[in-house]
Amino acid sequence: MSLNTHEPTVQELFDLTGQVALITGGTGYLGTAFSHALAEAGASVVVASRTQTRADEGAASLPVVGDAKHFGVTLDHKNDTSTKDGFNAALEAAGQVDILINNGQSGAANDLTDATREDFESHLANASAYFVLARMLRDHVVGRSAAGNIVMIGSMYGMVASYPDAYDQLVAASPVGYHALKGGVIHMTRHLAIYWADDNVRVNCLSPGPFPNENVNQEMVARLCTKSPLGRMGLPYELKGALLYLASRASSYTTGQNLVVDGGWTSW
Ligand SMILES: NC(=O)c1ccc[n+]([C@@H]2O[C@H](COP(=O)([O-])OP(=O)(O)OC[C@H]3O[C@@H](n4cnc5c(N)ncnc54)[C@H](OP(=O)(O)O)[C@@H]3O)[C@@H](O)[C@H]2O)c1
Repeated sequence: MSLNTHEPTVQELFDLTGQVALITGGTGYLGTAFSHALAEAGASVVVASRTQTRADEGAASLPVVGDAKHFGVTLDHKNDTSTKDGFNAALEAAGQVDILINNGQSGAANDLTDATREDFESHLANASAYFVLARMLRDHVVGRSAAGNIVMIGSMYGMVASYPDAYDQLVAASPVGYHALKGGVIHMTRHLAIYWADDNVRVNCLSPGPFPNENVNQEMVARLCTKSPLGRMGLPYELKGALLYLASRASSYTTGQNLVVDGGWTSW
């Protein structure tokens, strides 16, 4: 039996016209590419930053397709009041939110040799933040009897251990709390997806591999390249297709999954 009489075209499946997407850390290295992907696909994008001017500048830099409108809001996801205020500001500005991209992240840089309990917990706090915002989106769309879509940004470092040789004698290793965070985010995705499937809310995770920005130690980057099956690091635009797949109707039968874009790193 056919569920739909009209079979959507590929263009329709990836089209975000009429949808509103909220993205945390929307002006960051990868967040900028994600925000552009959403806007280029026709969404109205609410760019969240801890700094209002940065959020506004990020929103103003996005392409506008059709009647879409972009907005900037202040949102520090580690602070409850700021999270509530930021989500409400997004609703007030855009009228609704259909898609949440939990992308923002910060934590102490110390590695496992000297990380304190507080350093470790500074990473885990991003997982609590992803949950709190995800539940706000879920409650909002259920209240509207609408569909909701949540994309968590995970990491290959939530799936595999660090590559010690890349950091040895050069820079601090990838923080142990970051590994605990990203492994937790990938698994929380499954848990929320199961509980919210009946609410018409899908939850998926996008796990990037190595996408170092231009400020990181270049010797470390060279070492990472020797470990990458494709022999190079990823560029932010190479995540746009995967993000759009998860954020759009193209993935309407996909929930609770972790989509990995890592140049083959986790396939060794
Ligand atoms: N780059 C990679 O190689 C890589 C690999 C795997 C996974 N990832 C993941 O991809 C995501 C983006 O990383 P990125 O490389 O683009 O890093 P980034 O440039 O540092 O961006 C992270 C963003 O998070 C926001 N942020 C920090 N603390 C926040 C808080 N308390 N509340 C809300 N937002 C906060 C910051 O925005 P404001 O300063 O504007 O608030 C910042 O722009 C992260 O989740 C990261 O773990 C990155």
